[in-house]
Amino acid sequence: MTVDLILKNGLVIVEGKPVVRSVGITSGKIEGIYIGGEAPPSEETIDCEGKYILPGVIDIHVHLRDMSREDKEDFSTGTMAAAAGGVTTVLDMPNSNPPTLSWNALKEKITRARERRFVNIGFYAGIPKSINDFDEKMVAHIHGFKVYPHSPLVKDIEFSSQRIRECMKLAKTHNLPLLFHPDSSTSEEQPKTHDEFFEQHSCEHEVEALQKFIAIQKEIECRLHVCHVSCADSAELIAANRAERSLTAEVTPHHLLLQRNEFSHHNGIAKMLPPLRTKKDRETLWLYLQRCAIDCVATDHAPHTWGEKSAKFLYAQSGIPGLETLVPLLLTEVFDGRLSWVEYLRYCASGPAGIMNLRGKGVLTKGYDADIVVVEKGEWKIEGSSFFSKSKLTPFEGRIVKARPIHTLVRGVLVYSHGKITIGSGYAGHVPVGSII
Ligand code: DOR
Ligand code: ZN
Ligand code: ZN
Repeated sequence: MTVDLILKNGLVIVEGKPVVRSVGITSGKIEGIYIGGEAPPSEETIDCEGKYILPGVIDIHVHLRDMSREDKEDFSTGTMAAAAGGVTTVLDMPNSNPPTLSWNALKEKITRARERRFVNIGFYAGIPKSINDFDEKMVAHIHGFKVYPHSPLVKDIEFSSQRIRECMKLAKTHNLPLLFHPDSSTSEEQPKTHDEFFEQHSCEHEVEALQKFIAIQKEIECRLHVCHVSCADSAELIAANRAERSLTAEVTPHHLLLQRNEFSHHNGIAKMLPPLRTKKDRETLWLYLQRCAIDCVATDHAPHTWGEKSAKFLYAQSGIPGLETLVPLLLTEVFDGRLSWVEYLRYCASGPAGIMNLRGKGVLTKGYDADIVVVEKGEWKIEGSSFFSKSKLTPFEGRIVKARPIHTLVRGVLVYSHGKITIGSGYAGHVPVGSII
């Protein structure tokens, strides 16, 4: 039998070690993984000698913006950034303008994203002020609900226990996870000093929000997902309350690899929420990832304009681009021996696919979707100016990394190769993920 495409003689991770294999792809799915001369004939071949053939990254936390904020990012630039970064599936957060609170808003996002996509895109929804206004038509097209207790999507909402309970009941009714940004700060006052900003968004506030949500979750028994865990105490609290598939958590590459005292914070390049923490927090996050108390790595790709990021720290917007740096940064940990291949694959592909129920994704194996990144080992410098994202200011600027994606395939279609997007928008991938178009 002839397959559509062979990725020939690359390095595939088998039982935790790279071994030479060829990967056959037919009709967007992995047809087989072959040793040496056993590969079937193919219509097309990509030589992968010396390169790593890995499952594409599944990033369950991105802000693709678009809609009225195309100055920050749009579905096209955001998913080009994903493709260039080896990320083949992204799940988009609802804090867009307008927020994803209604069927109309979601429909418009789906329509625009379908035309502009370069990778698979899925969505989360916010929760309307009155829970009864939630439109059940949205359920089939979303992966979960997201709430921001410190900065609600609908104004005049206070995240009282009653509100949290109602949100959890809604999530449970529809068998979807409730995702939340753990921050109990309520002050609307603009901080006057750097210390005031960091105090507003302190670890105490992260832990306080977590405690509150976890306590109510025990009563309601919905699925709860903690976004961007950033503090040692939060990781410990999650570990102590962990229940497979009902309490899950993610961590960002920047909270794993950067700490606050490395930056002068004269502008907003290293400003994000939650903020960077201490060395101890960083080290504890790695530990709890290894212990499976944190399920996956997610970028929280949160693009803003150059002006919004280069402003003085207190006035700059929070959020950094992350889609084009995750694979190089985490594979540097692998190549430097701090992370095993099995851990990398769990944090970036099978872990996120598992907790968000993305069937047929996240593993390089026969019958799964051919969402694949081919990676080259070598030394490169991170340079924001080369990003496809509109957001080009990164706190990782100038960092030397030891890997970079050279080919990205989405459902068997080559979308990125050697620094260039290789097809038009709207062909590769599914929107929403799991739909047939
Ligand atoms: O830094 C952040 N940026 N944290 C968030 O929670 C939101 C995000 C954004 O949308 O810009
Ligand atoms: Zn957040
Ligand atoms: Zn976010």
